[in-house]
Amino acid sequence: MAKEKPWGGRFGEETDALVEEFTASVHYDQRLALYDIRGSIAHARMLAACGIIAPEEAEAIIKGLEEIAADIRAGRFTWRRELEDVHMNIEMALKERIGPVAGKLHTARSRNDQVATDVRLFLRDVIDEAVRRLLELRAALVEKAEAHLGIIMPGFTHLQHAQPVLFAHHLHAYYEMFRRDTERLREARRRVNVCPLGSAALAGTPFPIDREMVARELGFEAVSANSMDAVSDRDFILEFLAASSLIFVHLSRLMEEFVLWMSQEFAFIDLPDKLCTGSSIMPQKKNPDVAELIRGKTGRVFGHLVALLTVMKALPLTYNRDLQEDKEALFDTVDTLLASLKLATALVRGLIPRAERMRAACEEGHLTATDLADYLVTKGLPFREAHHVVGRIVSFAEEQGLKLWEIPLEKLREFSPLIGEDVYEWLTLEGSVERRKVPGGTAPERVKEALARAREELAQES
Ligand code: ARG
Repeated sequence: MAKEKPWGGRFGEETDALVEEFTASVHYDQRLALYDIRGSIAHARMLAACGIIAPEEAEAIIKGLEEIAADIRAGRFTWRRELEDVHMNIEMALKERIGPVAGKLHTARSRNDQVATDVRLFLRDVIDEAVRRLLELRAALVEKAEAHLGIIMPGFTHLQHAQPVLFAHHLHAYYEMFRRDTERLREARRRVNVCPLGSAALAGTPFPIDREMVARELGFEAVSANSMDAVSDRDFILEFLAASSLIFVHLSRLMEEFVLWMSQEFAFIDLPDKLCTGSSIMPQKKNPDVAELIRGKTGRVFGHLVALLTVMKALPLTYNRDLQEDKEALFDTVDTLLASLKLATALVRGLIPRAERMRAACEEGHLTATDLADYLVTKGLPFREAHHVVGRIVSFAEEQGLKLWEIPLEKLREFSPLIGEDVYEWLTLEGSVERRKVPGGTAPERVKEALARAREELAQES
């Protein structure tokens, strides 16, 4: 058996079955098959263009590869574990199809530069799809915000009522997070889009190949500058895993809010039935399982990042088989990310804000206490003193079970003679929100501008 393997020449006995099973990656790296074939076709074409193989040989190789690709697409291809990985499975199939000339394809190439190329091609497509899905999520946030510009809700710090904010402002905060996430993926893409082919095993190749031609044909923006680096680093995958982890930080924060907001305690939103699930015992339940699962899947994405960081640390140059451990981490992150983005978008589109509940919540917790302090500052009191005065007023209101705006003027003036009749405009929710006109603030005109800017960004980026 070992003799039949592409690397079998120097082996005197069969590979141990345990080793075959342990080292095989074809059950998952077959996912790279079509990228592998694209890379091989570009390589074969270049070998012929450079006179390294004959034009008819390249033609036979390319035709064979195209037929194999068709078989794979149709699910007619038989993957063989004893052939280890996707590369050797395809190479063997080519040999069976076109005979010994198939062996010329691997001239000036190694599986080391080949696998790095495949993963880069795969990841480039993945990033483009992830960016599309992020754009959809961002658009959904903008649409939802625009549709509910009038809603005021309590803004929180320490999960305590802090100051009133527009619900649209809260959603736009997530828009900004996902905008930076999109940017990060685009920046990572530039470093993904570099062609390792030509590095061969580690040192380059003596054949007079044309690396630029292969890179052009595969849509790479550049060729790698060092063959040893090109076959042995996986920082481009790590960047993607890190960018995905940050996306999941943001997704899981948003999902956590949805879960809280859908609880009876908050009841700030409802989610459509078709996006929720029920309980097998409690007939009344409608659970936000999708949001919880996205939040929960964050764990595996972080895990994959840490796993690959750990694989890479202290690996001596150049290629080591440890590197094969990059793929399952990458594939699972990709699947988790793409599905989660789609579902998060559906949740944002489907969520129904309950304006009356948010309004009622704003009545609790003296949300405009800062406004009262700011008011005293406009009357000449230093902020720190104003803070103190208002603290005493809040404590009085708590004792009496009053809202700030329910305290009569004479009473307020006992705390500070600076307070006049005009104070009550400072205590309304609308007034509080409207006064925050600073750039980036929650005033309706600022939020409208921010959403308009977001729309422009989305139009430009699509
Ligand atoms: N399956 C291998 C991987 O994923 C391909 C490269 C194998 N190279 C080698 N020299 N054994 O890393």
